[in-house]
This record gives sequence, C-alpha cells and structure tokens, in this order.
Amino acid sequence: MEIAAEKRIDGKQIRDHHLALLAQEVDLLKARGIEPALAVIIVGQDPASRVYVNNKKAACAKIGVRSAEYALPEETTTEELLALIDRLNADASINGILCQLPVPAHIDESAVLERISPAKDVDCFHPVNVGLLSVGKGNLMPCTPMGVMQMLKYEGVDPAGMHCVVLGRSNIVGKPMAMLLLAANATVTICHSRTKDLAAITRQADLLVAAVGKPKFVTADMVKDGAIVIDVGMDRDENGKLCGDVDFDAVAPKASLITPVPGGVGPMTITMLMRNTLAACKAQNGIKE
Ligand code: GUN
Repeated sequence: MEIAAEKRIDGKQIRDHHLALLAQEVDLLKARGIEPALAVIIVGQDPASRVYVNNKKAACAKIGVRSAEYALPEETTTEELLALIDRLNADASINGILCQLPVPAHIDESAVLERISPAKDVDCFHPVNVGLLSVGKGNLMPCTPMGVMQMLKYEGVDPAGMHCVVLGRSNIVGKPMAMLLLAANATVTICHSRTKDLAAITRQADLLVAAVGKPKFVTADMVKDGAIVIDVGMDRDENGKLCGDVDFDAVAPKASLITPVPGGVGPMTITMLMRNTLAACKAQNGIKE
C-alpha cells in the first residue's frame, strides 16, 4: 500500500534543516577564532561501528567541525583507553569526545564512559549528564531522544498532555526518551520485556516510541487509530533488509504520523551529536547564546 507522503516524517529533510543552521553557528565560532573539534574513538573492527563512525566524521566535515579519529586495535586494554581519554580531556583543542559502542567485551565500558569529562561528553552517557538531564539542567542532550524531540517540533507536535508510551528501557534511548517527554509535559509510560499485556498499554498511546531492537515488533493491533509512531529500531528483517521495530506497512495506515526506517530517526541522531559538539564548544569558551 502506498502511504500518503504527508504522514511520513522525513528525517533527512529535518536533518538538512538543522545541519544548515549548525553550519551557520560553526561559521560564527570560526569568525571568533574558535574551531570546534570532535574526537571519535573506535576500538576493534566492528563493521557497523565503522559505518557509524564514518557517518559521524562526514557530518563533522559537512558543517565545518574538525574531527579526529582514534582507531585502536581490538586488543587495547581498558587502561590504555582510559589513558587516551585522559589526554583528550586535557586537550583544550578538543571539545567533544565519543567512544563508539560497543567496545570489545574485555574493556570496562562503564569505566570508559565515566572517564570522559562531562563537559566533553557529547553522547550524554556520563552519570553527571544523565543526572543533569533528569533535573532539567543539561547542556548536552542524549542524541537519539533529542533527535526525536526535534522531529516532533518540526512537525508541529507538542507532546504536552499526551500519553506517550516508550517501548524499551535502555540507557541510550528508552530512559532518556522518557525523561525528555516528561520534561515536555507528556504523561509517560515505559514498557519493556517484562511488561504484562503490552498491547493493552501501547493501544493507549497517543505517541508511541519503539526502541526495542526487534524487527517489526510493533504490529497494527498494538496501535491506536491516529497515533504518532516513532521508530528508533535499526534491525534486519528475515531477508537481511534494514527495517525498524515497527511493521511499517501494517501500522502506517493507522498512524497520523510515522517515521520510516531508514530515513527517519537515524539521520537525526548524528545531527544532535553535532548540536552537542557545538554546545560543548560554546560552554568551554564561555559563550552563552
Ligand atoms: N553505538 C550505538 N549507538 C551509539 C551512540 O549513540 N553513541 C555511541 N558512542 N555509540 C553508539
């Protein structure tokens, strides 16, 4: 079935809108003698991580942010990685640091994420930044959830008063997504793998955010007529084709707005990484606006 184009939220269009604004901000910073810079750490040879890192570097290049890649071998120890982070924390020419996840299993991921200076934590993974987010005082924002909020804003959707159901409770998406929706005055329910009678809850959602990592998990019977459906999934279907957590073809006819995969939330995540890099750069240079 052909889905009406006006229902489909176009993540690439919204990305381009934001990147153009961010590029202007970079120009203003450079006019003041400041060159924003992002350090990107990748450990090992995970092919998906390589694609993500390349996309992040390409976004930097597109808006004029300097990127510095640190590609470390698989056998890197936690101590070696922490030593690199210490160096980057102390390097005033670096504004943002991200370590692409997953890191190899022998590396202490929490130790790594907690070593990145909160001021340079452009992923918003450090407990200090998670805490600031929860009290509404964050400067750096969680990239994927913030990308979703920006998509809603662009589409003129105000979550205030809506019942928003978030599927998934990960530290990267589900939990911070719920925080941002709550801060936007939504009524928020978080569901997860142990939730009983899931469909009865998701059917109450005015806005449903799927972040469970299971291909086509959300089916039409789980969605209320007219709901807004946001798909954060990046999965593979039975034919190995990229798809989301939502069965798009079945759900789209019921939804008032829906994000496709690919071309939905994905492009926004990296855009918000760029936003955070500039926010970190400005804060480090005492620039308020
Ligand atoms: N791996 C999957 N998603 C992410 C992300 O948002 N940030 C980092 N650093 N690694 C990831």
